[in-house]
Amino acid sequence: MKQISVIGLGYVGLTTATCFADLGNTVVGVDIDERKVSGLLQGKLPIYEPGLEEMVRRNVAAGRLQFTTDFDRAVGQSEFVFIAVGTPSGADGEADLRYVRAAAEQIAHSLKGPAIIINKSTVPIGTGDLVTTIIRRTNPHAQFAVVSNPEFLREGSAIADFMNPDRVVLGAEDHEAAQRVAELHKPLAAPVIITDTRTAEMIKYASNAFLATRISFINEIAVICDELGADVKEVARGMGLDKRIGSAFLDAGVGYGGSCFPKDVQALAHMAAIHGRHPQLLHAVMEINRSQRRLVVLRLRDILGTLDGKTIALLGLSFKPQTDDTREAPALEIAHLLHLEGAKLRVFDPLSMDLARPHLPPDTVYAHDPYDAATGADALVVVTEWNEFKQLDLHQLKAVMGRPVIIDGRNIYDPREMRREGFIYYGIGRGRPRVPHDPNGLVAAGALGL
Ligand code: UDX
Repeated sequence: MKQISVIGLGYVGLTTATCFADLGNTVVGVDIDERKVSGLLQGKLPIYEPGLEEMVRRNVAAGRLQFTTDFDRAVGQSEFVFIAVGTPSGADGEADLRYVRAAAEQIAHSLKGPAIIINKSTVPIGTGDLVTTIIRRTNPHAQFAVVSNPEFLREGSAIADFMNPDRVVLGAEDHEAAQRVAELHKPLAAPVIITDTRTAEMIKYASNAFLATRISFINEIAVICDELGADVKEVARGMGLDKRIGSAFLDAGVGYGGSCFPKDVQALAHMAAIHGRHPQLLHAVMEINRSQRRLVVLRLRDILGTLDGKTIALLGLSFKPQTDDTREAPALEIAHLLHLEGAKLRVFDPLSMDLARPHLPPDTVYAHDPYDAATGADALVVVTEWNEFKQLDLHQLKAVMGRPVIIDGRNIYDPREMRREGFIYYGIGRGRPRVPHDPNGLVAAGALGL
């Protein structure tokens, strides 16, 4: 059993604190947000993450997990202090380090005994050194070592990712400190990589940038498939069975969103640029990702002609299923683009309607289920692949829609079945019928060869 404190109670901090408590350690979670802390003390989570609420309650009840706004109380007792504060994007795409700096200063003031400070926040290369400098300057007597330990948690499966990691990456100049953090992770039985701080920090950025690159790659292939009449789903399957390629992160669609990929790819490109490098591939990855959102609007224009006054239903607002998170969600950008074209929106999401509301056009209609969203719509766009959208009653759906047009932004339906049911159906990269545009409105299904 170790004494641990975790600074910052967002997705990463709260999951880390709770999982370490569940492994039998004594953990204090610290946040400057009093409302968040008092909510947690009453068992209310500030985020939605499957399984986490139950785990928090169980560990609080067992006395292994506490929450506070008091740094002295938390940090003063701890052998291990995790920094898991946010690193939002700054004005120029760089990571904004203000919360990391503030956390380092607070830790320096509160340190009593020797401690290992572990950086979990995704921070620009060199931030480990910055944290060391801040603590040394703020408290010259502090006994500490700084270890970089990037997180690879996915929203929606954060607990499983924490408990069964593919690897634990530790970066430090003090090898003994890194070994002690490795010991802390021993129950997870994962391969541990111990390296220097900057390399550990880079592993995080390179991993996220690579996954984003795979997504943009398959999206580029999808666009080519559309033109040439190939099916990107089958292409990805055929590629993925090659062990050198693998099948993960080859789902074509409306692109990646969320709190990590967009921010991290941009921050990496920014770091390269300020060191005089031009990261062409990273820029292409970001540009392709943006194009995937526009693709939806272009397709709708192809089918419906002008979108002015048309009603479009959006299914799914969160950036992916199993989360209520709408940060950088494709749905918000697509909604914005459609609004600019004069379309009216009817939307439905099982979890994130409230979080999305401030970011959607004011006249958006919030439906109570997918059929309600589709009612009277000129087209329906699947933006997030929630399970409950996968087996909709197609007869009912077609009956309520104004026009039977579906843009499947996540390729969750079988194109042949949808066409058999009488829908004008477009997936992403599943063949685009080349037809002349019908200025009077809908392109005849017959002309599409459907
Ligand atoms: C990601 C990383 O996976 C995680 O390791 C990191 O620490 C944080 O960022 P997360 O943002 O929770 O996790 O979601 P992830 O499941 O990786 O998906 C990111 C985005 O990519 C989603 O918008 C998803 O819809 C999209 N995606 C994913 C695709 O478009 N195609 C794919 O094949 C996979």
